Amino acid sequence: MAQKRVIVSGMRPTGKLHLGHYFGVIKNWLKLQDKEGDKYIFIADWHALTTSYTNVEKLKENIEQLMLDWLACGLDPEKNVLFIQSKVKEHAELYLLFGMITPKSWLELNPTYKDLKYNLLKLYNLKAQFLEKVLPLVPALVEGLKLKVEDEKKFKDLLAEEISEAIVKALFEGYVEAELLKKLNIDKKLLYQIDTYGFLGYPVLQAADILIYKGNTVPVGEDQLPHIELTREIARRFNRLYGETFPEPQPLLTETPKVVGIDGRKMSKSYNNAIYLSDTAEEVEQKVRKMVTDPQRVRKTDPGRPEICPVFTLHKLFTDEQTLKMIEEDCRTARIGCVQCKKILAQNINNFLEPIRERRNYYASNKGELWDIFNQGSEQARKVASQTMEEVRKKMNLP
Ligand code: TRP
Ligand code: SF4
Repeated sequence: MAQKRVIVSGMRPTGKLHLGHYFGVIKNWLKLQDKEGDKYIFIADWHALTTSYTNVEKLKENIEQLMLDWLACGLDPEKNVLFIQSKVKEHAELYLLFGMITPKSWLELNPTYKDLKYNLLKLYNLKAQFLEKVLPLVPALVEGLKLKVEDEKKFKDLLAEEISEAIVKALFEGYVEAELLKKLNIDKKLLYQIDTYGFLGYPVLQAADILIYKGNTVPVGEDQLPHIELTREIARRFNRLYGETFPEPQPLLTETPKVVGIDGRKMSKSYNNAIYLSDTAEEVEQKVRKMVTDPQRVRKTDPGRPEICPVFTLHKLFTDEQTLKMIEEDCRTARIGCVQCKKILAQNINNFLEPIRERRNYYASNKGELWDIFNQGSEQARKVASQTMEEVRKKMNLP
């Protein structure tokens, strides 16, 4: 008998969603929600804490924004179990038990963690080298500046602290691979704050998220593949130790078109080049107006090259075939100006966003209903999760 498909996926609440999220993840979830199988889609707020535990002020707000964005996009609570990770405490229990059987080396070899360690090491080495050179100069500095220092040791410590802060800042600007930081989706300043137990255990928590529903299908982006592999390894090890319990989930890789931002780079919050699902029509118009185009097209009479123009790249996502063809030709032959071309794009993006805005506004003014949906989803998830936990406790001989 074919196994029932159980889909599990989650997203960290890191702020409002932009078009990149929509075409990268959400669109895919929307497609899956009409297919067979159970779907568990959740807000991974505990995962958000592994990197952002120092600023929790915005956490609840971010969770609510994500709830709004999801429903606005048309994720249907009738077709998916939509919930909040921290409201299903069973995830934490399974995470703890998985922690018992997960070799530390598996986690240390996880690319996300390894890269972090490598960069931290590099950072600390540079810092130490720098301090070694600078600190001996302190007495001369005190002397030369005729500073009145009562406690030279204290002054030295203070200076060291200030200097190391400055160095850390400087290093973050240059020495730490920007690519890596982007991949980790980590604020530069946070890099040296995430060398924690929680961050190391990130994939164990993710394994618990998936396996607690006996998920066998995990729609994710390519960056998540090592985490899914680890989930499979944890499932295998559990099954071997305590008997067949968990499936070995498969990633469901989806073609994710890289959505360009208004500056032509990949759309990303950290580049400040994103168009948000929650932007107003005016904001969209403004942003599109500011977009970079073919740099060689200075005058309207210059022929343009749509293949290298970010405006055209976005057109491909929002504009119908026929108009697209027309724009392509007219651009090459200088029969359409960039201003006009952008106007069409902004209009099409706004047409696309309009129903999303409407639903968003509805739930934003009916917050009770919004929370009911996610609270009920969490209850529903909990029923399944607690069944799995009963089985797990039994298998591990816990009373
Ligand atoms: N780590 C995922 C991300 O950053 C979020 C996530 C947490 C997740 N738990 C999950 C995704 C379980 C799929 C399944 O995108
Ligand atoms: Fe780009 Fe459109 Fe201008 Fe051509 S007309 S260069 S596609 S903005």
